[in-house]
Amino acid sequence: MSASVPRVLSGIQPTADSFHVGNLLGAVNQWVALQHESDAFFCVVDLHAITVAHDPAVLHRRTLESYAQLLAAGLDPDVATVFVQSHVPEHSQLQWVLGCLTGMGEASRMTQFKDKSQKAGAQSASVGLFTYPILQAADILLYSADEVPVGEDQRQHLELSRDLAERFNARFGETFTVPRTRVMHGAAKILDLQDPSAKMSKSLPGGCAFLLEEPRVIAKKIKSAVTDSDAVVRYDLQAKPGVSNLLTLLSAFSGTPVVELEAEFAGRGYGDLKSATADAVVAYAEPFAARTRELLQAPDHLAALMRDGAERARAVAAPLLARVYERIGFVAGA
Ligand code: TRP
Repeated sequence: MSASVPRVLSGIQPTADSFHVGNLLGAVNQWVALQHESDAFFCVVDLHAITVAHDPAVLHRRTLESYAQLLAAGLDPDVATVFVQSHVPEHSQLQWVLGCLTGMGEASRMTQFKDKSQKAGAQSASVGLFTYPILQAADILLYSADEVPVGEDQRQHLELSRDLAERFNARFGETFTVPRTRVMHGAAKILDLQDPSAKMSKSLPGGCAFLLEEPRVIAKKIKSAVTDSDAVVRYDLQAKPGVSNLLTLLSAFSGTPVVELEAEFAGRGYGDLKSATADAVVAYAEPFAARTRELLQAPDHLAALMRDGAERARAVAAPLLARVYERIGFVAGA
């Protein structure tokens, strides 16, 4: 890849059994598009997934499933570098260095930590959860990423990454690229099917359409989506969030612009809209699930792809870490 295209990096936690349509339309599909216009690195961030209590067997399975789903969604391992975070030890190593440059107060201001530690209960929030954003900064800075495509909720973590890059550079000399945040505004924000005032989330499975679920379950969730009582198919996110959400989904999965769908469904009931949306989502989900299963059923091939991704990632990360160690005064080892 030529030096003129931006280096892009992003990560996804292996914390669910299946991607849902919100992950796909809000993030993963954007990554798939970006791989062709950038030097792209995408990782399954398993180190981040142990910052809250976890089951080892479940994490193991979900890491494989997440990796397979990234490929099933269209990331091409010949085009993008797709890897598992723990396969590249430099992430943890750089995190230590960056942690020593981060103020306690600075880390304490992270709103995601405040939210998550409240949920975990003050007693059980781990130090790992506290240092989560520093590990995320290491993920980004190790690859000299120019751009980091993330959701709005990651903005503060990205600011920390930028601050740490600038601080290191000022103290020890130009070493890190200061990354730009690329909040994926163009990406569709998908709402909960049962409560369209909330974002679709795996923690509310009733209103969440998982791509690896049985097609009839996906269809049932969409067909029982909460809408409104005025029976007009029109896009209006404020007044009609449920109907607008269905239009967004149908548009994304069918490729038909929302205005055309409004015309097509004019004078028809919500039942028709729901059926069409369910059909469109299932038409994507079925082959997606089949591709994912196929990859998981060839574990040696999957392992080889992961190994290759990790090797390519390390080829970038290791020299950068070596430069960092030198800059901070560590004596070169063997
Ligand atoms: N914190 C991110 C999230 O929850 C995941 C993540 C980890 C990430 N490391 C990253 C995203 C590096 C972008 C870049 O969505």
